[in-house]
Amino acid sequence: MEKKRFTITSALLYANGPIHLGHLAGAYLPADIFARYQKLKGHDVAFICGSDEHGAAITLQAKKDNVSPKEIIDKYHELNKKSFKEFGINFSFYDRTSSAEHHENAQEIFTLLEKNNSFTKKTSQQFYDETNKQFLADRYIIGTCPKCSNEEAYGDQCEKCGSALSPEELINPKSSLSGEAPILKETTHWYLPMQRHEEWLKEWINNGEFNQKRNHDPKSWKSQVIGQCNSWIESGLKERSMTRDLDWGVKVPVENNEEKVLYVWLDAPIGYITATKKFAKKQGVDWKRYWKNNESEIIHFIGKDNIVFHCIIFPIILKELGGYSLPTNVPANAFLNLEGRKLSTSKNWAIWLHEYLTDFKNQQDTLRYVLCATAPESKDTDFTWKDFQARNNNELVAVFGNFINRVMVLTNKYWEGVVPERSQLTKYDNQILDSIKEYPKRIGDSIEKYRLREALNELMNLARTGNKYLAETEPWKCKKTDEERTKTIINVSIQISAALAVLCEPFLPYTSKKLKTLLNMKEIIWDDISASMIPDLQKIKKHEHLFTKIEDHEI
Ligand code: 2FM
Ligand code: ZN
Repeated sequence: MEKKRFTITSALLYANGPIHLGHLAGAYLPADIFARYQKLKGHDVAFICGSDEHGAAITLQAKKDNVSPKEIIDKYHELNKKSFKEFGINFSFYDRTSSAEHHENAQEIFTLLEKNNSFTKKTSQQFYDETNKQFLADRYIIGTCPKCSNEEAYGDQCEKCGSALSPEELINPKSSLSGEAPILKETTHWYLPMQRHEEWLKEWINNGEFNQKRNHDPKSWKSQVIGQCNSWIESGLKERSMTRDLDWGVKVPVENNEEKVLYVWLDAPIGYITATKKFAKKQGVDWKRYWKNNESEIIHFIGKDNIVFHCIIFPIILKELGGYSLPTNVPANAFLNLEGRKLSTSKNWAIWLHEYLTDFKNQQDTLRYVLCATAPESKDTDFTWKDFQARNNNELVAVFGNFINRVMVLTNKYWEGVVPERSQLTKYDNQILDSIKEYPKRIGDSIEKYRLREALNELMNLARTGNKYLAETEPWKCKKTDEERTKTIINVSIQISAALAVLCEPFLPYTSKKLKTLLNMKEIIWDDISASMIPDLQKIKKHEHLFTKIEDHEI
């Protein structure tokens, strides 16, 4: 098998609050499933993420809590890093953009772009809060969205309709610091003339020419991602300022500069590169193999509000720098709502990951399962506790858990945990054994097309097949009359269990580990999944429940 290389990124998470379910479902769990799968396929994977520690999201939170920005980022960086780990989100490197190496890297890239004439420098009038004596970053300006009339749109973006905005487009702009209408004042900034890039962007997004060269199916781009990019390009790309008047962020690397920093959306994606450099250094390999090599696939997992930054602005930066690869896919997800309402950190309408575990101890895989089964892959979806309970009880417990449970109990009861030998195989047995061999490809194909719900459903189909096989062959009845036949049935069932143990790893890593331990399996890679992974007479452990039923009072 040809070894491929993947640079997989998940949106750097703002370190201004704890991670919630919507974040996990949008950009982190899908990336983790994809990365785990590619690793199991034996490919070289750099799975990169970290905290986004600059920008107004941080300074606003600091102001609100009356502490320094540094206190905010230190607190949430550690908390979120721990939450990701607890939920099995297995990053190769979890970095932070406040690190000295990142500041240096971002400044170096800025200087290269500046030398390359990728920017234009311009003086203009910008919003200024007279009470607080400061220029207002886009996020500090609130007003009415010109596209959808949402009255709480920010100066850079409307969270209701997803449009990217600039502050002067807002109707009735107000400073979120003083609540007053800001005045206009002169200031100089570096701009990225995006209009220079329309032609190739159009071609790249719609014809996937660059992707085809790398054997990547351009059709696997989600239609809503292509649609959003086209609507941006069609409405005409403009120049966009890449610096800000702020005292928090990466300082613009020019002499005597104290008050200007890089725009957070310039420095954050560069954070992917800084983190990769650190990861590669730790591995003793050259970081360029992940970013400056056409053999490598770069895939950005994000939420739909980040599409333009990853599909237009960052690719322009990479193209201007030269020698960098462009992403082969940006499988952006829509949003997950909670009980019918939009999740919101500021409105405190969320389920925080670190709190989930205090209620559902060791049940990370249940949440991973439910979030994958209901993932907002093409449109917004809704998380409800009722559905969470039902999927746990009716699918994980009643289908997957029940099958494994019956196989383990019977093996222990009849043969003291020694896997019985199989003898004469019936047509049905052969059909089952053959089907085991088809699942790795079926599940893998869906994952490679970023259809993770479909992939998960295929996994469950194998467990359903197992239950059906037991129900139809009835080993518990057979045992009284035909010992050899019973042994064969259980042996076949054990092979299904072993396949499930490996195939579930991308989705349910804790379950996979537990099941492999119960079956005394060694580590097996995806392409070695077969219908005879457990040898005759292998000893397995006493059975243990994989999943626990969730009662009404718990939800
Ligand atoms: O929207 C957000 O949450 C940003 N912190 C995402 C940054 S992604 C990347 F570019 F770093
Ligand atoms: Zn809007």
